[in-house]
Amino acid sequence: MVTVMGWVHSRRDHGSLIFLDLRDRSGLVQVVIDPQRPQFAEAHKIRPESVLGIHGRVEKRPQGMENPKISSGKVEIKVEVFEIFSEAQPLPFQLDDEQVNETTRLKYRYIDLRRPRMQDNLRLRHEVTRFVREFLSNHGFWEVETPILFKSTPEGARDYLVPSRVHPGNFYALPQSPQTLKQILMISGYDRYFQIARCFRDEDLRADRQPEFTQIDMEMSFVEQEDVMELNEKLLRALWRQFRGSEIGDVPRLSYQEAMDRFGSDKPDLRINNLEIIDVASCFSETQFHVFRDVLHRSGVVRALLIPGGAKQPRSFYDKLVDSAKALGASGLVWVKWETGKVTSSAAKFFADHELQQLQVRLGAKEGDGAIIMADSWLLVCQVLGALRLQVAHQLQLVDKTIDRFCWIVDFPLFEYSSEEKRWVACHHPFTSPKDEYVSILKSQQEAQYGQCLAKAYDLVCNGYELAGGSLRIYRADVQEAMFRALGLSEEDIKQKFGFFVEALKYGTPPHGGIAWGMDRLIMILTGAEAIREVIAFPKTAKAVDLMAECPSSVQVGQLIELGIRVVASSPKNDN
Ligand code: AMO
Repeated sequence: MVTVMGWVHSRRDHGSLIFLDLRDRSGLVQVVIDPQRPQFAEAHKIRPESVLGIHGRVEKRPQGMENPKISSGKVEIKVEVFEIFSEAQPLPFQLDDEQVNETTRLKYRYIDLRRPRMQDNLRLRHEVTRFVREFLSNHGFWEVETPILFKSTPEGARDYLVPSRVHPGNFYALPQSPQTLKQILMISGYDRYFQIARCFRDEDLRADRQPEFTQIDMEMSFVEQEDVMELNEKLLRALWRQFRGSEIGDVPRLSYQEAMDRFGSDKPDLRINNLEIIDVASCFSETQFHVFRDVLHRSGVVRALLIPGGAKQPRSFYDKLVDSAKALGASGLVWVKWETGKVTSSAAKFFADHELQQLQVRLGAKEGDGAIIMADSWLLVCQVLGALRLQVAHQLQLVDKTIDRFCWIVDFPLFEYSSEEKRWVACHHPFTSPKDEYVSILKSQQEAQYGQCLAKAYDLVCNGYELAGGSLRIYRADVQEAMFRALGLSEEDIKQKFGFFVEALKYGTPPHGGIAWGMDRLIMILTGAEAIREVIAFPKTAKAVDLMAECPSSVQVGQLIELGIRVVASSPKNDN
């Protein structure tokens, strides 16, 4: 005799016998109820997703009635006692309905989470978390919790603020990451720290971003860049061995410059073969085509992407690429097709024959191939051709989805110029150390040289996603102050925002560095899910709304008064 409890997954009422598939997170089992027994009469009314407890005898299913699709498919349970714990109302959608829209799924997340696929995702997430904890503990790391109510930690997004009741007019900021705190733990001698850390960033959301997300965050003292990368590569290999059953080969290292030049991205998708950006300026050094000529005079670049077999693509294919390029900020895009016996191009009348011939040689283009060419400043050309590389690869199915491809990106710039803010901003974050040869530029505030400074920063990339990012840190207070000044912070700003941190650096700071993995992205890749929402139990929409609980939501006036807050503008009721 066994006792089983769970949800009614499906019901087949044959009148004289009722068959139920009872489900819990471990799977299904078939139970058989005889409704002729007076105490079982109500079994006819049991609705799917009601919760039952049954007690009965496990019996072999009659011959020919086995179900090889489920692990308990050879047996069934003949019910002796049953109890309906709770009746379910008719469901807003069926668990096996894959077409149901995401809004409904998120509104009724408790039902959505009953799907075996979602339970598999969250089970894997649990197992990965456990595995990572074990791995890092075995490598001498201590798990330390850092506060959620804290002070702004700059990671490039807006802060979520929490008002203080006790100190009206003052706010905590939810951490964008535990960055300053993990560094302070190094100053305090904790040597190797990790945390499965919740981070909060008020930024524009995409499929691989959420306003709150989880990092596998770590920091190590007395290390070089190589030590952090080596340990994390070991973790990467262990994860793929355990959860994908596959051995990862070499993880190539590309400098930021090389990644941008070849793939137009600092997170290149290396599953795409034979689609690399090529410098074709030499083909047009004497060109009469004024667009290319002007760009080259202004020290811009002319680069191309060869599209194997691209000659057979219709005009509309290239028109779409031109539209995408323009949407990304390009002023235009030229295409060329090597068709049988002739070359056609959107800029045919501007190109000399020898230029087209040189272009063909430079690109290694064969009859049947196509190419797109763009001229502009280096960064814009890389970014646009990088995005078009992905667009073309997905459209022409050039992405090998049977493998995972990794790389490290190193030698990042320390700064990038924000034309919006009209100042230099940190490429990674302001605690990242410049490479030694650039420290003097920072200390002597040679602003004109900031663009050349490289950082001791590294990103781990998988299939075009930034899986983890980290750096060696500045560990001298004078260099940290110079960095803050380079970022345009006044003496007063530095004191107010980071005074505690700069002060801490003055009391004995070891050289240190670390990294943080995007846990949600890691699970998304391991499960093959399309978005991180699929691997987070209660995610938010692209507009940062929780549809189930309907938040953010207004609060009672009394609460605002207590907090000393007056709302000056309220937004219309949430759309999602
Ligand atoms: P970074 O900002 O690169 O570095 O973040 C580390 C990793 O976190 C993931 N990630 C996100 N995942 C989901 N939603 C988001 N909104 C989101 N933003 C980032 C990415 C990313 O690689 N303190 C540093 C780490 C360090 O220097 O040690 C930091 O937070 O996978």
